[in-house]
Amino acid sequence: MAPVFILITIAVIMALSSTYANDNNPLQDFCVAVPDASAAVFVNGKICKNPKLVTTDDFVATGFEVPANTTNRLGFGAATADVNKIPGLNTLGLTLMRFDIESNGVVPPHIHPRATEMFVIVEGTFYAGFVTSNPSDGTKNKLFARDLNPGDVFVVPPGLVHFVRNVGNTKGLAYVAFNSQNPGFIAVTTSVFGTNPLISTEVLTKSFQLDKKTIDYLQSKFGGY
Ligand SMILES: *[C@@H]1O[C@H](CO)[C@@H](O)[C@H](O)[C@H]1NC(C)=O
Repeated sequence: MAPVFILITIAVIMALSSTYANDNNPLQDFCVAVPDASAAVFVNGKICKNPKLVTTDDFVATGFEVPANTTNRLGFGAATADVNKIPGLNTLGLTLMRFDIESNGVVPPHIHPRATEMFVIVEGTFYAGFVTSNPSDGTKNKLFARDLNPGDVFVVPPGLVHFVRNVGNTKGLAYVAFNSQNPGFIAVTTSVFGTNPLISTEVLTKSFQLDKKTIDYLQSKFGGY
């Protein structure tokens, strides 16, 4: 190619491409701004260890061969290798989880505010699904769900309500990946009915079109969490 043609090609490519600026993704629920520069501050995420003091163990977690404790009202348990367990994950944008669930166990509808989720089923049969948000294209609150078997992989887009139930007769095991060092977990149940302090009854009776007695009952079920 002639040099002039190459230059023109480069100029056209540069003209067609535009630069997009993005805010950094939050690495925790919030990072409240401090107007006073001399005040004690937290960084977005964790502060970094002096590289000279870093050891191999900063990049290792152990114990993931052991099933998580599933003795609770929902019948599931998880061991999470996130930044709190593996300091070396700081700023690397990844979390891995071992997930165990009893037959008939349920992970209630919940959200990971900071991560896409992807999991592979090793044992058991899972009914899993997620619900879309409210885009203007007519797919409002659309449920995507199905049964999944060992070897199947499922993806949950970030920030969407999703759930899992072990519909098989045996224990379930899955390994889960999140593209955040701190994905977060918001259960719809407890974040509505189990808040501290409680959300006012007037808000919940109107929102859910239920009477005060039912709201009081639900708050007693999920309160003190
Ligand atoms: C599992 O959790 C339950 C409820 O918190 C507890 O009573 C039980 O001792 C735990 N089991 C083991 C093996 O740690």
